[in-house]
Amino acid sequence: MTSSTPNSELTNQLSTFEKDILEGLETTPKKLSSKYFYDDEGSKLFQAIMNLPEYYLTRSEYEIFESHKQNFYQQFSKDTKAFNLIELGAGDGLKTQVLLSHFVEQNTSFSYRPIDISAEALHQLKMRFNKTIPSLDFEGIEGEYFEALAKLKTNSLQNEKVRNIVLFLGSNIGNFGNEQSLNFLTQLAQNLRKDDYLLLGFDLKKHPQIIKMAYDDANGVTKAFNINLLKRINRELDGNFNVEKFDFYSTYIPETGEVRSYIVSAAKQEVFLKKLNTTIQFEWGETIHTEISRKYSASDMKEITNEAGFEFIESYTDCKGYFMDMLLRVK
Ligand code: AVI
Repeated sequence: MTSSTPNSELTNQLSTFEKDILEGLETTPKKLSSKYFYDDEGSKLFQAIMNLPEYYLTRSEYEIFESHKQNFYQQFSKDTKAFNLIELGAGDGLKTQVLLSHFVEQNTSFSYRPIDISAEALHQLKMRFNKTIPSLDFEGIEGEYFEALAKLKTNSLQNEKVRNIVLFLGSNIGNFGNEQSLNFLTQLAQNLRKDDYLLLGFDLKKHPQIIKMAYDDANGVTKAFNINLLKRINRELDGNFNVEKFDFYSTYIPETGEVRSYIVSAAKQEVFLKKLNTTIQFEWGETIHTEISRKYSASDMKEITNEAGFEFIESYTDCKGYFMDMLLRVK
């Protein structure tokens, strides 16, 4: 409930971020999108999460890349002289570097084209690879995934002799809702050519306790990652969230494979967002849903990707069977 709302003239001038925050906090139950976690501080906190003992995902995928880099090389270079590796979301490049270094050592002809909305993330990545793999053919593309793919399509992706391989790693697919992930994969297939590849990294369903702990770490880094969104709103929307009066809760639902994360109001309280001239009321215990981190079985993923327009080639897991990278081909 809001005690004051912005007038329509103000609403028309709002940025997408402002509109989304306003809509999310005015709706019942309240929600905020996890895509807004990643300001500078949020990106640092996510780096810290990836190093947590409970957060096994990054280590598992790293292990897959280390132990299967030669399989990837054979598959990627099969029946083609060259390939473009197009990574959706640049990240810190630590895992991808395992593959890139290996391919360079094989003297393969390939290019690396990370796509990211953040120019800074691309810059950091470029600096890193300039040092670690100086001979890498690197060209970062700034923008939304599909805009960037469309741009690529009109030039470098068109060479029939060069295979395009999209990397979508790190269980990023898990942060989409069910319908959203099917739409995303369908759109992705449509933006590629027949026989292009997708390497999709996703987290597998497993003992619920292991998953639960990965999203509720003992040191409260995941809590800080969520609460940081309130700090971002304070900064960017001139808000007065008292972050001490908000808590964090996450739960894993084995039937759906969803981890659901929430910010919880620890008091009955009011928050004013000056820039939006809006007051938001919170009941004690009221939640703001922030994130879905979905887990899949291999067969779930085969079904979804098949419906989206991909055929299965091969899949790879770490030694514990926690995580999976699935190689797919556009039908
Ligand atoms: C980026 N994404 C795949 C992470 C995940 O596992 O859902 C984000 C994250 N949220 C809490 N911990 C990590």
